[in-house]
Amino acid sequence: MVAVNITINGKKISKDIQDNTLLSDFLRENLSLTGTHIGCDTSQCGACTIHLNGNSVKSCTTLVADCEGGEITTIEGLSKNGKMHQMQESFKKHHGLQCGFCTPGMVMSAIDLLEKKKNPSEQEIRDWLEGNICRCTGYQGIVAAVKDAASKM
Ligand code: FES
Ligand code: FES
Repeated sequence: MVAVNITINGKKISKDIQDNTLLSDFLRENLSLTGTHIGCDTSQCGACTIHLNGNSVKSCTTLVADCEGGEITTIEGLSKNGKMHQMQESFKKHHGLQCGFCTPGMVMSAIDLLEKKKNPSEQEIRDWLEGNICRCTGYQGIVAAVKDAASKM
């Protein structure tokens, strides 16, 4: 067992966990933050993407023990005072989702992109989201949503 102290969506959490606990399992099973989805469990689909210390990471291949002292944001932590994040608004406006399974990971990855590059080109958006797979193949709406968010964020 190992003791971890982390901040998740602004809330400090201290817990004793098994050394090999994956962050995706911890979020979903211990904290009921089920907006973080698990699609492949092997770092390929991006459905489990969250922010760790301001960077998007795949939580299915991140150990909670390696997050000690870190700040994590999940899809549940994006809205403020009942108002959705601009990226969520843009996904809604441009129909950037169909079944919604990939959406939390897409949104978290796309926000990280805009924090690193203000006005990415369409190709840059597509390249960045290469690690996020949409099984419904709704990429056109996703790219349009990210472009829209880029113009407003
Ligand atoms: S569940 Fe983590 S990348 Fe697919
Ligand atoms: S909207 Fe269904 S997997 Fe992307």
